[in-house]
Amino acid sequence: MRNTIYYCRNCGFKEELGKHYYWKCPKCGAPLDLIYDIEWRPKGLGIIRYRSMLPVQEIKYLGEGETPLIKRSIKGKSFLFKLEYLNPGGSFKDRGASLTLSYASSLGYSKVVEDTSGNTGIATTLYSRANNMQAVIVMPQYAPEGKKNLIRLLGGKIIETPTRPDAAKKVLELIDEATCYVAHTWNPLFFHANKTIAYEAYEAGFKHGTVVVPIGSGSLLLGIYKGFKDLVDLGLINTMPRIIGVQGASSAPIYELIYGKQYHGDSSIADGIMVRDPPRKHEIAEIIKKHGDIVVVNNDEIISSLKELIKMGFIVEPTSAAPLAGILKYMEDKSNVEEPILLPLTGSGLKMIDYLYSLLKKQ
Ligand SMILES: Cc1ncc(COP(=O)(O)O)c(C=O)c1O
Ligand SMILES: [Zn+2]
Repeated sequence: MRNTIYYCRNCGFKEELGKHYYWKCPKCGAPLDLIYDIEWRPKGLGIIRYRSMLPVQEIKYLGEGETPLIKRSIKGKSFLFKLEYLNPGGSFKDRGASLTLSYASSLGYSKVVEDTSGNTGIATTLYSRANNMQAVIVMPQYAPEGKKNLIRLLGGKIIETPTRPDAAKKVLELIDEATCYVAHTWNPLFFHANKTIAYEAYEAGFKHGTVVVPIGSGSLLLGIYKGFKDLVDLGLINTMPRIIGVQGASSAPIYELIYGKQYHGDSSIADGIMVRDPPRKHEIAEIIKKHGDIVVVNNDEIISSLKELIKMGFIVEPTSAAPLAGILKYMEDKSNVEEPILLPLTGSGLKMIDYLYSLLKKQ
């Protein structure tokens, strides 16, 4: 394993990767960072193409990454849609689960637990299985049935809780010596894997412009930001793209931190970005303040973009339509959006066709 160091900015804790699995600082409980050298030597396919840019090199690869980048024009603007929903488990979460669980398995863990609104549970179960570990997924009982059934089909055990915050509490009771907690909302390994989205977009020709990112826990945003920062640091691109974050009206903590006011409204169909208190919220808000802006969308705006995406042939879930809704709303107010606009389409609609059909049929 490359010389990668767990580092806590809060208390100074440092330890080389390879001995323990940490999802947060073992000394003070703050989120951890990772420090390691990077070298631009892309070779091979998928996320393993970027081993020399990642904190872990031994990766059990199932085809994650290498997702298509498709150019479309909307309202006269040039969009690059990155089809993250074509990952093996149907979402970008496969990248983080692959890296995190390859590392956990190298340390001898036999069980994995995770709390999730759905997609991280699918990715966790898929990559637990690939790494010979048993997955237990704690999720709210109202999570989409299609997501739950896919987890069951892949061999995961589900524990249902009344709400998403209950799931976050319950999962902590399940951690023991043989069991690692993925903790995607905290875990630096999980979001460092998402750097590969930026690398792939760069290699496919995206060198400057705007990136639109849905924000729940912020693992996608943190990864994409760090990926582009690596490319700037290595001199491969000249400037950071502008980053426009998109949150849902029912749960917009990063908007609230930045603008100092509460947002009211309903975005309940975007279940993947309903995260009330992301552990890394201050870090996320700093990135947005320095490199971009944030916009908040509601159910009606999300449904209208979802219809548009499906009409264009992109079969995504409602959460994945939030960024398009967000950037269209943003462009109505402010004209300074640099093109092209890179927009990851994060999760597949194939897990919930009955639900999508009833949602869109009504419109
Ligand atoms: C489809 C989809 N898009 C976006 C997100 C938000 O990602 P993050 O929690 O990394 O901000 C999620 C998270 O569950 C998701 O499932
Ligand atoms: Zn610490």
